[in-house]
Amino acid sequence: MLHIDNLTKVYRRGARANDGISLAVASGEVLGLLGHNGAGKTTLLNQVVGLARPTAGTITLLGRDPVAEPAWARSVCSFQPQAHAPLTGVTMRQAIEIIGGIRGGHRRAVQRRTAALLAALNIEEWADQPGERLSGGVRRLTAFCMAIVEPGRLVMLDEPTNDVDPVRRRLLWEQVRVLAAEGRGVVLVTHNIAEAERVIDRVVVLDHGRVTATGTPAALAADRHMRLELTVPAEPTVPAWSLRTSREGDRLIVTVAEENAHLAVAWAQSLTSRFSLNPISLEEVYVTLTENPEVHRNAALVP
Ligand SMILES: Nc1ncnc2c1ncn2[C@@H]1O[C@H](COP(=O)(O)OP(=O)(O)O)[C@@H](O)[C@H]1O
Ligand SMILES: [Mg+2]
Repeated sequence: MLHIDNLTKVYRRGARANDGISLAVASGEVLGLLGHNGAGKTTLLNQVVGLARPTAGTITLLGRDPVAEPAWARSVCSFQPQAHAPLTGVTMRQAIEIIGGIRGGHRRAVQRRTAALLAALNIEEWADQPGERLSGGVRRLTAFCMAIVEPGRLVMLDEPTNDVDPVRRRLLWEQVRVLAAEGRGVVLVTHNIAEAERVIDRVVVLDHGRVTATGTPAALAADRHMRLELTVPAEPTVPAWSLRTSREGDRLIVTVAEENAHLAVAWAQSLTSRFSLNPISLEEVYVTLTENPEVHRNAALVP
């Protein structure tokens, strides 16, 4: 559905925001786009919908060139921007219905769809309030509804859960899965990695404008390391099977390959009864990648 090949964006004032990015999104797939602040995620999405012009490289959307046909790209793409939409002088419901109409929906169908989304996200209580009075999280959910009231074949969501409470985040993730089940491609930019892990089919990690890792969360889990935490006052001699050690207060954190888990448990038991051994979360894998991309590139994540 979407093919991005060697995409580079250099802003006029110098930042190389995207530096040779290649990725693809299939129909029915949720692609999670992760990366630190300033990694180039928003720049990437903006180029797909014609809000920024690539310096080099190609974008192919449904077999056509969105850079040459930005109006067409916006008609087949739904986009929730990271920045808040101004909601002055309209209610939440009006804002969503207006966008539904602009995107070609029939009035009754748009009204039904809007009502269904408000119910699904449990935000009906604010539906008829003036937009300028809405809290940040409710505004974000309104923007999400505006993006998907008449969804395109590709849906791009730029940090859709920022400021949203945990219960409604979960409701939003369910709607993301519905979009994919309908056969749409979804690009999801998020920092809520632990939650999104269950929603996304494939991950692309950006670091300073480059792709540092791609893979399915399942592939990631396949050679996922374990995290041993023990409370020990002194510094014990760490056995050779330890991949990495660090300290957080009085706790020692040891990274262990899964096949050495039994050795780790035996060693921990010899020192203390206060220990735990857990799989490393996608979030931790991501943090490690970001801290030290050279060491971990292609190591934990399988393309
Ligand atoms: N309009 C712009 N003009 C100049 N530099 C920009 C502009 N937008 C973003 N940048 C720079 O490009 C880099 C990537 O930004 P962005 O794509 O917003 O990252 P992210 O969304 O991953 O946080 C940053 O260094 C940012 O300062
Ligand atoms: Mg951004």
